[in-house]
Amino acid sequence: MPISPRARSPRPGAPRKRTTAPKRKVLFVASECAPYAKVGGLADVVAALPKTLRRMGHDARIVLPLYASMDRTQYGIRFLRSACVHMGKGEEQWIGVHGASLDGGVPVWFVEYDRFFGRPGLYDDAGGEYGDNAFRFALLSKAALQICKDSGFIPDVMHAHDWPTALVPVFLKTWDRVLSPLSATASVLTIHNIGYQGVYHASAFPYIGVGGEHFAPDRFEDHGKINLLKAGIFFADALTTVSPGHAREIVEPVGGMGLAPRLDARRADLTGILNGADYDHWNPETDPLIPARYSARDLSGKGACKAALQRRMGLAERPDWPLFGIVSRFAPQKGFGLLVECLQAALGQMAFQLAVLGTGDPWMENYFGGLAAAWPGRVACHVGFSNELSHWIEAGSDFFLMPSLYEPCGLNQMYSMKYATLPVVRATGGLDDTVENYDEATDGGTGFKFWQPTASALQNTIGWAVSTWFDRPRHIARLRRNAMREDFSWEHAVAEYVNVYERAIAARRLSA
Ligand code: ADP
Ligand code: GLC
Repeated sequence: MPISPRARSPRPGAPRKRTTAPKRKVLFVASECAPYAKVGGLADVVAALPKTLRRMGHDARIVLPLYASMDRTQYGIRFLRSACVHMGKGEEQWIGVHGASLDGGVPVWFVEYDRFFGRPGLYDDAGGEYGDNAFRFALLSKAALQICKDSGFIPDVMHAHDWPTALVPVFLKTWDRVLSPLSATASVLTIHNIGYQGVYHASAFPYIGVGGEHFAPDRFEDHGKINLLKAGIFFADALTTVSPGHAREIVEPVGGMGLAPRLDARRADLTGILNGADYDHWNPETDPLIPARYSARDLSGKGACKAALQRRMGLAERPDWPLFGIVSRFAPQKGFGLLVECLQAALGQMAFQLAVLGTGDPWMENYFGGLAAAWPGRVACHVGFSNELSHWIEAGSDFFLMPSLYEPCGLNQMYSMKYATLPVVRATGGLDDTVENYDEATDGGTGFKFWQPTASALQNTIGWAVSTWFDRPRHIARLRRNAMREDFSWEHAVAEYVNVYERAIAARRLSA
């Protein structure tokens, strides 16, 4: 992907926009939502955005699958009623509809259908991706419409997220179109990750139950298979992705990962809206999960967090050495291939420590385990998913590594800045939009950036951060103050989403 330095997005820190738009009913339909079910940042967004919409007077609600891993007692999830969902080929699927309330009072409906969701994983398990994912998430998407009809909650907008719920816009435009109480409901599809499109064998198409004319190259058809995201892109009234930078990338051939022509065709309806950071959960002044609290005025608690992290992860207790943190899905997108190429050499040449938390690709899990064994006291790795440890790493590290090959937005670099942990990132998508590169002449900036997706560019940038730590500590202190001052709160993004909702509603009226 051609990447060039560009002016930083003006959004962070910009004055908050006031919106005079009417209060709307918005139903989020998604496959993840923190804390119920989380694999990555999608879960954080689906939790925070409806909560903020409600604070601003909108009636936002959420529909999720009821996964086996959800603790029904802990979250107060209770059975409400049964419902019949009509799928293709005359299939009637009886689901259980459950309810709960997410922090901030967001009503959540859960779709119980054990044959599909009563499994250990969300999308996959040790045996790989579930073979029936097209069926599982088609049912979820259709169930969301049924829940609206049965409950009488008729949203102005249904907001779908990524391939798992990309069929929501499809069903809204193709099911029961004239008679349905949802005939005026608009749809917005947010693309969080274009690298996952939901491409499946065409034998799932009849189950989706839309007319055969939609098995066309501009809609479902993708080299003889079906592509759920592509269909959603065609049918949604408005499209968004999670940073302005990524919106520019995905209409280009490399960034679009095969969907650039479809996205280019809808360029006028596509908006890049930078994700926010939920400071209710990610704020070192109030975070109940970290060993000590701190603020920009008094960073002493950060030193305590670093020492505690070093002890917990078995690193040498060295306040004087810079500690790099990683919290990530181990996926090719995250650029760990570059790290693998340069880490041995970097560890040999420079004084720093590395604390890693991640899970995913077994090869990466083994690699970091092996690296920790080879560099005792210098490198530590915890393989698994731990929300608490992720907060510890944010608070206890000095630098946060995100060498992503592509990154639609990225949340950890925003969390890091709030925790005075300076991001070291490749300048792509949302990383480029949110991190301002260190300027040695002015001691401005909020982190360290590199552009070329090469191991040497990454190694040089790690070296730049390490040498700044040792040689220019006053600049580090200044960068930390700059970073902590950034304001990525969700209110900014919500104002932009509300505008998109209004545009989607207007487009729906025109197409009715
Ligand atoms: P992505 O959605 O591509 O994974 P993001 O940066 O948007 O990347 O969001 C990742 C989210 O998942 C963050 O909240 C991060 O803290 C969390 N996360 C990722 N891996 C783990 C893990 N192993 N344990 C705990 N949290 C994790
Ligand atoms: C995706 C992207 C990530 C983004 C997250 C939430 O999984 O990889 O960059 O922050 O979704 O939108």
